[in-house]
Amino acid sequence: MLDFEKFVKYSKPGPRYTSYPTALEFSDAYKYEDYIKKLEDQDPSRPLSLYFHLPFCRNACYFCGCNVVFTSKEDKMVRYIKYLKRELEILAKHVDCSREVIQMHFGGGTPTFFSAQQLQEIIDAIRSKFQNFAQDAEISCEIDPRHIDEDQMRVLSSSGFNRVSFGIQDFNEKVQVAVHRVQPYEITKNAMDLARKYNMISVNTDLIYGLPYQTLETFKETLSLALTLQPDRFAVFNYAHVPWLKKTMRKIDETTLPLPEEKLHIMQYTIDFLTSHGYKMVGMDHFAKPEDELFKAIDKGELHRNFQGYTTKGGADLIGVGLTSIGEGVDSYNQNFKTMQEYEASIDNKKLPFERGVVLSKDDQIRQYVIMELMSNFKLDIKRFEKLFSIKFHEYFADAVEELKVFVDEDLLSINDEFIVCSETGTLLIRNIAMPFDAYMKRHALNKKTFSKTV
Ligand SMILES: C[S@@+](CC[C@H](N)C(=O)[O-])C[C@H]1O[C@@H](n2cnc3c(N)ncnc32)[C@H](O)[C@@H]1O
Ligand code: SF4
Repeated sequence: MLDFEKFVKYSKPGPRYTSYPTALEFSDAYKYEDYIKKLEDQDPSRPLSLYFHLPFCRNACYFCGCNVVFTSKEDKMVRYIKYLKRELEILAKHVDCSREVIQMHFGGGTPTFFSAQQLQEIIDAIRSKFQNFAQDAEISCEIDPRHIDEDQMRVLSSSGFNRVSFGIQDFNEKVQVAVHRVQPYEITKNAMDLARKYNMISVNTDLIYGLPYQTLETFKETLSLALTLQPDRFAVFNYAHVPWLKKTMRKIDETTLPLPEEKLHIMQYTIDFLTSHGYKMVGMDHFAKPEDELFKAIDKGELHRNFQGYTTKGGADLIGVGLTSIGEGVDSYNQNFKTMQEYEASIDNKKLPFERGVVLSKDDQIRQYVIMELMSNFKLDIKRFEKLFSIKFHEYFADAVEELKVFVDEDLLSINDEFIVCSETGTLLIRNIAMPFDAYMKRHALNKKTFSKTV
């Protein structure tokens, strides 16, 4: 049983580490020409992972932390497709498109806000450039169950999409009203049935805990209902409340948000409930069936974390296409423009819509490895690390190990010469455990309004 008081005291702002360094370190010191050179110098034997950002939604869910463009205007969407195609044309001049694609993801916003025909048009444009998809490529799409019909699902399925994730968030009506996302159970069920009818290999759902009016009791009901849908994977996200960054979050009355202690009860219950119903926890916020390939990857120490969550497909260069998309190379991150105006202007100038990024120093790469291992596998194989970087771990990270002593003393973590291993309860504080390895943390610690809270 968790010692909740102990946990609550660790509730503090911290990154979610979908990247290291985090996006806060991306800057315009990384220039367009440098980015193009990096793209052109990529090792052609490395496979590709493609991300397409399809940012549109009609109405705002108040909790939404994604990069969304709210619109009901058809011409805006038609125009976006035109620009995406032009971005692909420019990209093809700098990237060897014959490289093998092992992963492709459509994220949003709501990709299925585009009609079946429009989705087909986007996919055809991609396939005309990137023709070497691996047989077992993981091709996935985020879907809002309120915006999916059979024609769209048919297009996705016939185009090779094999994974879909559906946003549920919460089934409780009061919670749904408070976050401006009313979505009856039947709608979600019908959408998931459709995905199965079209043979999607992995049909997944997203839930969020920490939303207004949620209590342990309401979330128990949400989980029971979600379980009846038998998703292959559950993502159960901790609500990242950052109203200083996202205007729509200001519509949420903060006094209705569950307190850290309640959230921990919810998370603990979620773990107990899902593990007693045939799921196992993966990484920080995912659950999957034991036969899921993610677990084989964990056993081999090959689970990876990227912007879309956890994956078995590591070792690829990530190329992000579309507004705000992030790309990742061996030693760099890059991000596209965030405003449509700048995004379009760049493409009009026949340039990729690159805005900023970061090139990783050796120290960044070392810390990135440690942080990503902890976030994905909840452990670090110190001997493997030392072999990889020719560094003595305990010397290099003497400060971090010292900082981690509080977690060791509380049995949340064990550290010896060979391994760092989180205890089962320590996994709930993995962001806190990763933070001492973050060289930029001290700078940001001064500014509380940077990250969401870890608990
Ligand atoms: C782009 S959305 C998914 C697709 C679709 N737009 C939908 O909402 O169904 C990706 C997921 O991010 C999660 N999410 C969005 N905002 C969040 C926040 N502030 N904190 C935690 N998770 C969040 C939600 O679970 C959501 O389903
Ligand atoms: S949660 Fe999904 S549907 Fe809601 S605003 Fe965000 S991207 Fe759009």
